[in-house]
Amino acid sequence: FGLMTHDPGFNNTSSCRSSITYIDGDAGILRYRGYPIEQLADSSSYLETAYLILNGELPTKPQLDAWVHEITHRTMVHENIKKLMDGFHFDAHPMGMLISTLSAMSTFYPQAKNIKDPAMRRLQIARLIAKVPTISAYAYRKRMGLPYVYPDNSLSYTGNFLKMMFQRADPYIPDPIMEKALDVLFVLHADHEQNCGTNAMRSVGSSNVDPYSAMAGAAAALYGPLHGGANEQVLRMLQEIGSASNVADYIRRVKNREVLLMGFGHRVYKNYDPRAAIVKQLAYDVFEVVGRNPMIDIALELEKIALEDDYFVSRKLYPNVDFYTGIIYQAMKFPVDMFPVLFAIPRTVGWLAQWDEMHNDKETSIARPRQIYTGYDARDFVPVEKRG
Ligand code: CMC
Repeated sequence: FGLMTHDPGFNNTSSCRSSITYIDGDAGILRYRGYPIEQLADSSSYLETAYLILNGELPTKPQLDAWVHEITHRTMVHENIKKLMDGFHFDAHPMGMLISTLSAMSTFYPQAKNIKDPAMRRLQIARLIAKVPTISAYAYRKRMGLPYVYPDNSLSYTGNFLKMMFQRADPYIPDPIMEKALDVLFVLHADHEQNCGTNAMRSVGSSNVDPYSAMAGAAAALYGPLHGGANEQVLRMLQEIGSASNVADYIRRVKNREVLLMGFGHRVYKNYDPRAAIVKQLAYDVFEVVGRNPMIDIALELEKIALEDDYFVSRKLYPNVDFYTGIIYQAMKFPVDMFPVLFAIPRTVGWLAQWDEMHNDKETSIARPRQIYTGYDARDFVPVEKRG
């Protein structure tokens, strides 16, 4: 096989050059464009961070105002998208609805095929960042049998999303602590270098397909339980465990390899995931408003036992970002099957920034790995009547 390397799962393969996100997995460091995630979570907002991720620099005040205005005024979706979403089965998973609707959007914006034009790419990026929350909220309301709520341009990115999700008959004013907590969670999820979903975005996008189709591929990758679907699985696991007194038995099952400890382990972080530390703290801010989610006690007990157990210590398995997010989302009254969607909304900017960077990179070529063939050598065709 000459110089070909065999690296299933790309454990040790660099697929691109990127100046967006830096991770040091041993030291537990995550930075967007050089800025530590802790500082961005503390002092920035999701849309400001999105601007940074896309453009490489923090915006000036006029740049930020113009960017927020642009996103806010692109949040409406075509009426036929609503009709398309009406066609889903009543119990369709919201992530399935999001993935399908993203791919359908390519038919609404055929000019998006012109991926060589940087201005055209930027237009589609703004559209997607603006419209993904609207589609996500519609997916939830379709599932609940509730009428769709149109975007409200007077609200923030997360305030508007909360309103589109949760408004009933009365006027809806988002709780500022919830709005802020969701915004911080969105900052934490905005990008994460070459994870499975982003690798899918680049891989599908490298064929020069439009960004809606490529993003449907990225979102599909995110849906899996080993990736963004893990936050949903963590909550289901905590529900199955039921109480802190059952944790030791669950750990025994993990060590017997009957089940995985969902929300634990990471391909890159072999120390604590820095996002998990911020999310854990954030949970308490949310509990101040909505009351303590009893699931936190099971999670804390799981974390305590696992961090002292040689099985987890020797494999460098620590809580990842998904371990505590589900507890917050549940406390905020999001249904469990919306959790992966709450990961996909903020990751939109990461996918698109990486896709844009790829198309600006002269080194880019179509993603087309080779293989080590393990099948038959050449053999002659046998007509069906002669096959034993
Ligand atoms: N529970 C129990 N054992 C585990 C776990 C876990 N969550 N994760 C890894 N291991 C074991 C694994 O069985 C293996 O043991 P051994 O060497 O004895 O065979 C060892 O740890 C190394 O694991 P690996 O599967 O080679 O590690 P990986 O880098 O290929 O996988 C992972 C990373 C995230 C897919 C994996 O840790 C996992 O499945 N975790 C649970 C799902 C999860 O929480 N995913 C969210 C990831 S973070 C956010 C995101 O990316 O979306």
